[in-house]
Amino acid sequence: MGATTDTRNGIVDLAAMGADFARDPYSVYAKLREQGPVHRVRMPEGAICWLVVGYDEVRATLNDPRLTKDWDRASGDLGLPRIASGPHMLIVDAPRHSRLRRLVAKEFTARRVEALAPRVQELTDGFLDAMLAGPDRRADLVDALSFPLPISVICELLGVPDLDRQSFRRWSNTAIGSDPSPVKAQAAGNIAAYLAELVAAKRERPGGDLLSALIRTTDEDGGRLSPEELLGMAWVLLVAGHETTVNLISNGVLALLSHPRQLADLRADLGLLDNAVEEMLRYDGPVETSTYRFTTEPVEIGGTLLPGGGELVLAVIADADHDPARFPEPGRFDIHRDARGHVAFGHGIHYCVGAPLARLEAKIAIRSLLERCPDLALDAHPASLAWREGLLMRGPHRLPVRF
Ligand code: HEM
Repeated sequence: MGATTDTRNGIVDLAAMGADFARDPYSVYAKLREQGPVHRVRMPEGAICWLVVGYDEVRATLNDPRLTKDWDRASGDLGLPRIASGPHMLIVDAPRHSRLRRLVAKEFTARRVEALAPRVQELTDGFLDAMLAGPDRRADLVDALSFPLPISVICELLGVPDLDRQSFRRWSNTAIGSDPSPVKAQAAGNIAAYLAELVAAKRERPGGDLLSALIRTTDEDGGRLSPEELLGMAWVLLVAGHETTVNLISNGVLALLSHPRQLADLRADLGLLDNAVEEMLRYDGPVETSTYRFTTEPVEIGGTLLPGGGELVLAVIADADHDPARFPEPGRFDIHRDARGHVAFGHGIHYCVGAPLARLEAKIAIRSLLERCPDLALDAHPASLAWREGLLMRGPHRLPVRF
């Protein structure tokens, strides 16, 4: 496990592992799991936290009401920036959480989302037309499809007209990445300022979109959403709505292209696609660790007593889904296996509200890509890919393909 066995002061140093850890965090987590479910680690971001591995312990942690998501209760010296987003679902507890979630949950039910399929297909077709029209039958799939599709869908849903997508992508990547605190805070500030302007413009010219409906909920409708909560809602939907799905498409296509038998099986029977997407979520899901949770009192997790007082706790979703006690031969990508029960979308009250939309986008994107590119192949050695830094997200910066 190289540098991770450096447990000076009992602290496992993930930061010291650099790009190796970003490339293959699974083997590092597996070694930690063999030693026990709870570890004190230095994150690539530099802060010290409690890391929870193993399927059962991760699920229990994601659903533990003794852990709060409220930054006001976090210890003052975590060394992590507090992102000025406005209150949103992922940084508040019940009952405020339930109220915020109720306001948007109906927009993301399986039925409502299914109605978006024709538009998602149309957008996908457009991005693939542009990719196939390129000069040398090569592309970076992240640029060509994985990024533009989810950002376009969430912008249309919210009613964000002409977002400067490249700037937004840079700010958003930075705000949730592993840059130093002031850089992250600056990027987050840019997003907040952009959203404030956007909301002001929408107030002037409301439409039939989700953001306009949320503004009505703020201004009329008994003020069920405060102005700060409105900004928080826009923030979490825009950021969570694209940062993740990008990686589901990229990581999923990478898994297929690196496993020719599985790819051939899927091409031969696209009826396997639903199951294949669940396996992509399990095998190399977009979210590596949970968002932040803090202790409010001493809590025992998997036999370790964590102190109270706002200590940071992260549940390793990537490891839960690679725990051989739950998924036999977890390192084997197998689109025929029963991957249900994975925690790629979380667990408990913060379970991903956008899961039906993410699944829809991934299925349409991958099906269309396979149909339009019968000889799709990787155009780089998998080991040469550069991966997102930081613990939260898992995905390659670029995915070179040829077709
Ligand atoms: C493959 C794509 C996606 C993955 C893997 C994913 C994963 C997750 C996970 C793991 C959580 C829980 C985090 C925690 O408990 O710490 C979560 C929550 C959330 N996700 Fe997603 N997500 C995806 C796509 C989306 C999309 C498309 C949207 C928006 C349209 C979205 C919006 C949210 C929101 C708002 C929450 C917070 C829910 C709450 O606290 O009640 N996500 N997501």
